[in-house]
Amino acid sequence: MRVKSLQLTNFRNYAHAAIEPGEGVTVFTGPNAQGKTNVLEALHLCCLGRSHRTPRDEELVRWGKEAAKVNILTEQRDGTHEVTILLAKNQKKKKTVRIGSRQAERIGELFGHVCGVLFSPEDLQIVKSGPSERRRFIDMQLSQLRPAYFYALQRAVKTLSQRNALLKEIARDGSLLRTLDLWDEQLADCGAIIAENRREAIEKLSQYAASVHASLTGGREELRLWYISQAADAQNPRERLLERLHAARSEDLRRMTTSVGVHRDDIGISINGREARLFGSQGQQRSAVLALKLAQLELAWKERGEAPILMLDDVMSELDPGRRRQLIERIDRVQTFVTCTDLSDLAGARQDAVYQVQAGTLEIMGGAAEIVKPL
Ligand SMILES: Nc1ncnc2c1ncn2[C@@H]1O[C@H](COP(=O)(O)OP(=O)(O)OP(=O)(O)O)[C@@H](O)[C@H]1O
Ligand SMILES: [Mg+2]
Repeated sequence: MRVKSLQLTNFRNYAHAAIEPGEGVTVFTGPNAQGKTNVLEALHLCCLGRSHRTPRDEELVRWGKEAAKVNILTEQRDGTHEVTILLAKNQKKKKTVRIGSRQAERIGELFGHVCGVLFSPEDLQIVKSGPSERRRFIDMQLSQLRPAYFYALQRAVKTLSQRNALLKEIARDGSLLRTLDLWDEQLADCGAIIAENRREAIEKLSQYAASVHASLTGGREELRLWYISQAADAQNPRERLLERLHAARSEDLRRMTTSVGVHRDDIGISINGREARLFGSQGQQRSAVLALKLAQLELAWKERGEAPILMLDDVMSELDPGRRRQLIERIDRVQTFVTCTDLSDLAGARQDAVYQVQAGTLEIMGGAAEIVKPL
């Protein structure tokens, strides 16, 4: 797929900006705090309906303004898609998504109209941090590709908090105990959908990441990913989750929280058989993340039958020349949006257009993109 145009209105520090990117690499360069990442954030918003930096949409509205608007036009095999996202600060409906001229009823309708993979320095946390970062990684990827996954996830979050609330109520009123079965069933239903999707996707990601990683390290190191879950190797994840929920019931009642479910899942990541989080050097962890991100790109590509867009936020400067070269070779095949403070980091990449970013304005420095409407 390809982004044909992107327009921002009162989004972060942009009053108004519009670009018509080419098929290759579009670069946003400039000093710190000028609005480079903000452009990628707008693209990410179009992919997933939310920022990659904050869960609070109101932060995306330009200070002093009531509403922000992002409009994107993409070209895919089946034609042109248009998405508009409106964020209003003080209205009852804070977020409105329009697909073409039709207003979406559910946020999941957005997925697929713009499909992208974002890689930023914070992604190192996927390897370094705790399980929640890795769940977020897989959830973002699968939600975008499979709306049914996203809906199961939404249901799981809601059911979990309702079950936890019920556990607290049962402590006060034991007669409510009989209603717990219902929540267990529901948790197992959506948990099974999530577990099956995660298991299958992590298996594929592991294959792709291992092959990218082998070429990054000249075949010297072996990267492996695996799914860690209470239902990981069950033939029937629903039954397994139910069994576990029942087995843990008295403990859950005592602690007033749910100890079983896909909210406890994790992804194991090892390099040469050792856990990357604990034993990987900084450089090894960086290679692992790069391999993961490129695997994510591959998965989206295979699943959709066409390339997603790639967004690289300030990652070039953190890679050594060898890994940078490998990344540049790969971005040649997909439409890519790159931010950097130093253009020399991109030496060797075919650049369609370079925008100088200055206090929320985009000014073209050369290349093929035609229209730029700075402030
Ligand atoms: N809601 C908002 N309204 C207006 N300006 C905002 C808003 N949110 C953030 N900003 C401004 O946007 C700028 C940050 O933009 P961004 O994160 O895109 O910077 P950057 O160019 O990527 O910088 P760096 O090179 O440091 O990563 C800051 O100057 C910040 O004050
Ligand atoms: Mg930035």
